[in-house]
Amino acid sequence: MELLKCEGVSKIYGNGNNQVTALDGIDLSVEKGEFVAVIGASGSGKSTLLHILGSVDQPTAGKVIVDGVDISAMNRTQAAIFRRRKVGLVYQFYNLIPTLTVRKNILMPLLLDKRKPNQEYFDQVVKTLGITDKLEALPSQLSGGQQQRAAIARSLVYRPALLLADEPTGNLDQKNSREIIDMLKLSNRNLKQTILLITHDEKIALEADRIITIEDGRILSDEKRG
Ligand SMILES: Nc1ncnc2c1ncn2[C@@H]1O[C@H](COP(=O)(O)OP(=O)(O)O)[C@@H](O)[C@H]1O
Ligand SMILES: [Mg+2]
Repeated sequence: MELLKCEGVSKIYGNGNNQVTALDGIDLSVEKGEFVAVIGASGSGKSTLLHILGSVDQPTAGKVIVDGVDISAMNRTQAAIFRRRKVGLVYQFYNLIPTLTVRKNILMPLLLDKRKPNQEYFDQVVKTLGITDKLEALPSQLSGGQQQRAAIARSLVYRPALLLADEPTGNLDQKNSREIIDMLKLSNRNLKQTILLITHDEKIALEADRIITIEDGRILSDEKRG
């Protein structure tokens, strides 16, 4: 089943002489359950693409369909709700709320919608991420790697159709980076989570099922592996 489709997606920032073409006609299709790495040099348009796929930003032209919904046509309110319920976003910095326990941080997307977690799924997510015994701690009591795992758990708690991660290991040492990538692979396998992972690290990209290389806002290559 096709989970994500981009057709002719372009993004131009600024106007007049200050125009920057960040994306230039991106066509892309991702199947449910795929683990895709997006690789490219700094400034190639990776984060712009991720923001558009996550309905954080809108394309200048083109169409984006996620889980059967045309997100390129949404207004701000619709986009915010869609983002909370359908996509998980993970960034280089974890953005956990320092005054709330890890458990509350993870549950925050559900609490905002006054929803209750599915206990079995919640347990499975925190177990997969190896933070079951950290749930009552505050973020500051966790290592960087553990905080990033909590941020990933938060992004998974709504069972998002799509997990988007932008350089999630950019702030971590090698050992913690390794662990985070292993956790993402595990969630891809155990929870059948569709993942789009942005990285500029080729070694990390090699862990994915498919590698898309972008350069100057265009897809340079798109290779399935394994
Ligand atoms: N908000 C913005 N306003 C203007 N230009 C931007 C903005 N965000 C990104 N850009 C430009 O768009 C291009 C792609 O940026 P980005 O998507 O952040 O690349 P990457 O994540 O691959 O490093 C760069 O030239 C960058 O300077
Ligand atoms: Mg970036």
